[in-house]
Amino acid sequence: MDYKRAISVRHSCRSYLPDTIDSSIVKKLQASITDYNLLSGLNIQLILNNGDAFGNFSKSYGMFSGVNNYIAMIGRANGIHEKEKIGYYGEKLVLEATEYGLGTCWVAGTFDKTACSCILGPREEIYCVISIGYPAAKKSFKDKLINSVMHTKKKPVEDFFDTRGNVPDWFLEGIKAVQSAPSALNKQPVKFAYTDESSDALPSVRAWITSNSSGVEQIDLGIAKLHFELGASDVEWEWED
Ligand SMILES: Cc1cc2nc3c(=O)[nH]c(=O)nc-3n(C[C@H](O)[C@H](O)[C@H](O)COP(=O)(O)O)c2cc1C
Repeated sequence: MDYKRAISVRHSCRSYLPDTIDSSIVKKLQASITDYNLLSGLNIQLILNNGDAFGNFSKSYGMFSGVNNYIAMIGRANGIHEKEKIGYYGEKLVLEATEYGLGTCWVAGTFDKTACSCILGPREEIYCVISIGYPAAKKSFKDKLINSVMHTKKKPVEDFFDTRGNVPDWFLEGIKAVQSAPSALNKQPVKFAYTDESSDALPSVRAWITSNSSGVEQIDLGIAKLHFELGASDVEWEWED
């Protein structure tokens, strides 16, 4: 999987064609979902040919058109590091789908949670969904509008880290991949710091959120940590804020 290429071409897609997703792609996505659920303890579900969660205009504000499929990002209610894991594994699926030529969009607000046709286990909740499908060639007026409002200039690289002095190239490559990460309202409320305190230990990187008002910043953090890992190449994260 060429995740780096996917990072460079991905953008949020809010207008979809009605076509069903090719069964060979569905199989591969299902296999990844099974793996990620085992690794994370999440209960991610792929919902196909059912757009009810996006059919209610008052909940979706008419921002989306043609959504027939989505990935329901489900985890334990109040589970430790749950939101971070949702971001990390959900974005892995987003980048995989991008490589298959599909469009995606993370959606935490503008959908109807009560109309989601997924099955929740005891003490589980839907944190958000990811719409998925073949992108429409012609974007809806609202889709164009949202993209022009949200896609202001990228935050400069320096705004993403708090480290004085020189940082190694691999750290900067990680930060560059974070620059292209999706985030709620495109706020990118994340920062990274590099430390290389002693010569006999491996250098370490810390990541944290810079605000906590919308309740989904930890999801943004999980997404940003995955992008950092893919950009910097040889990184292993712990689940920690
Ligand atoms: C956790 C999360 C929640 C989001 N919720 C919504 C949403 O409710 N509605 C929407 O239209 N876009 C939503 N987005 C998409 C962002 O607006 C989009 O990622 C951001 O504007 C950057 O644009 P890009 O993804 O094209 O790079 C969400 C993104 C994330 C990461």
